[in-house]
Amino acid sequence: MKYDADLHAEIVRALQKYTESDPLDVLRFLVEYFDQGIVFSTSFGIEDQLITHLIFENNLPVRVFTLDTGRNFQETYQTWNDTLARYQKTIEVYSPKDSAVAALLNSKGPNSFYTSVENRQECCRIRKVEPLGRALHGQSLWITGIRADQSSNRKDMNWLEWDDAHGLFKFHPLFHWKFDQVRAFIDAHQIPYNVLHDQGFVSIGCAPCTRAIQPGEDFRAGRWWWEASSKKECGLHFHTPSTSQS
Ligand code: ADX
Ligand code: SF4
Repeated sequence: MKYDADLHAEIVRALQKYTESDPLDVLRFLVEYFDQGIVFSTSFGIEDQLITHLIFENNLPVRVFTLDTGRNFQETYQTWNDTLARYQKTIEVYSPKDSAVAALLNSKGPNSFYTSVENRQECCRIRKVEPLGRALHGQSLWITGIRADQSSNRKDMNWLEWDDAHGLFKFHPLFHWKFDQVRAFIDAHQIPYNVLHDQGFVSIGCAPCTRAIQPGEDFRAGRWWWEASSKKECGLHFHTPSTSQS
């Protein structure tokens, strides 16, 4: 879809009467407003599990999908399994193209991501970014589990924003939530979660590229820990400040 500044302003105005303390209210509003083409991406991290719970428990007409990079932790697959068992709903899977993965492995082997930022981004592009493009194609609203205090880059994002790279609106229902709030909600509703969160992992991506963090370390310090922090996004979340208003 094409960017429409008037539409953006209209949604931002409508959102003003909602607060982030009740993400279900605002999700219900957006689902009605957009009517169709609403998707939620889950990596089975703790924020995503909370949003999955809201969507599935309330039968919201939102398509839920995951990008299976093929390099996830077994604990992540277990969370996926537990989520299917608990809610009995569909989670669509988008996988990287076999031919692209084979070409990468043939030319650079299985662990090329450790050798340079370019090689790491190439792997992320093949395993995450390209499948994401397919998942978002033709959609109008993309819901994510991003929170502002996950990184300094994310602080500059907005509750609702326009994603120019994919041509849709993007909404982060838990944008100003703190990790402890998310954790308390998960516990109160006994929502299945990744047990790695109990072992020092806060932000969880692929197994070879994620480690636990120490107390006091940055939230995303365990992601691509061998790289300078300015490079630590995988390309799923581009931020375009000029068109972000909410
Ligand atoms: S990443 O860009 O660094 O990998 P992060 O792990 O912080 O992202 O997750 C932020 C949001 O991106 C998640 O809440 C989820 O909506 C989406 N996301 C990240 N990884 C995946 C994945 N493998 N499958 C689907 N969605 C994902
Ligand atoms: Fe590849 Fe690591 Fe990116 Fe996963 S996080 S897609 S293994 S580089």
